[in-house]
Amino acid sequence: MSTNGSPFRTTAAITAVHAYVPEKVLSNHDLEGMVETNDAWITERTGIKERRILGKGVGTSEIGVRSIRGICEKRGIDPLEIDLVICATVTPDHVFPATANIICDRVGAKNAWGFDLMAACSGFLYALTTGAQFIETGRYKKVVVVGADKMSSIINYEDRSTCIIFGDGGGAVLLEPNTEGYGVMDSVLYADGAGCQYLHQKSGGSVSPPTIRTVEANEHAVFQEGKAVFKFAVTNMADVSAEIMERNHLRSEDVAWLVPHQANLRIIDATARRMGLSEEKVMVNIDRFGNTTAGTLPLLLWEWEPKLKPGDNLVLSAFGGGFTWGAIYVKWAYGG
Ligand code: UT7
Repeated sequence: MSTNGSPFRTTAAITAVHAYVPEKVLSNHDLEGMVETNDAWITERTGIKERRILGKGVGTSEIGVRSIRGICEKRGIDPLEIDLVICATVTPDHVFPATANIICDRVGAKNAWGFDLMAACSGFLYALTTGAQFIETGRYKKVVVVGADKMSSIINYEDRSTCIIFGDGGGAVLLEPNTEGYGVMDSVLYADGAGCQYLHQKSGGSVSPPTIRTVEANEHAVFQEGKAVFKFAVTNMADVSAEIMERNHLRSEDVAWLVPHQANLRIIDATARRMGLSEEKVMVNIDRFGNTTAGTLPLLLWEWEPKLKPGDNLVLSAFGGGFTWGAIYVKWAYGG
């Protein structure tokens, strides 16, 4: 029993969502002219048909800025009301300052503080869990969680094993206190640093700072051992999604939507099968946007927002570099 007279504890409800993808499209056919690949292979092995590309000189903050402006308009709030902005990304505008700070400045969130959080494709799950704590404790009333990446800034467009997968985009959600039983209900997060060898950016950090050699060797681009990552991803994303259902006594019929990270359609299908969900309950937009890393989950929520109803049980799940993985159970708070 909470102390505010409500039978429910204070939870962090998602009260608005907005997202942004750039207009420029990079299709499978475009990639056929850049590396030795073909539309049929990419479609069959990943489910991707096209992805979006942010312009030169435009950073990840642009995605956060547009998303927060959309949220303020939808929710009818002033940016000055925002207490905290957490930005999940592996492609910050700069190594420092934090992209969250740049976003706060650009949207006029003068009363907010913020920080970036790096957990690759699980970044939005980590950031949502973190942001929810500040609401649950009563510390803040309005927390924005951004998940955004400009993956094209760290992709080698001569490496066919990675350039076909990733795209640019992302979005944000607003978290506010709720005492009616809606919002972030539970979260299960994992990390295993031993996975670094299979998916990483070799240079640019303190171990191997940028030099002419590292640039010439393309060590600032994503390195991925796809097959190895696939094996870990397919098992762990399905397991953690089943785990969060069991912990919360959710049967397949209780789950309205699976909101899965968009890395590979085969991983998404395996996760849905494990949860006993039919494909109508699975949000998928990988065909149009590819893998936007921390951006995939808010992008899905934004696209599906009109279909969501108060009380819908959502399971968000992801697997990514680190390795990092996890799942969050959200009870949706408002009608689309
Ligand atoms: O989001 C963060 C976590 N990341 C993931 O979850 C990604 C997990 N991994 C994957 O999604 C898949 O492993 C990939 C999509 C990256 C690759 O698919 P795959 O089915 O594992 O292919 P593969 O790497 O085993 O390659 C199979 C064949 C190879 O040829 P051989 O050796 O069989 O002759 C590759 O050289 O396909 C070849 N190949 C390609 N062919 C055409 C690899 N990339 C391409 C390509 N186009 N783009």
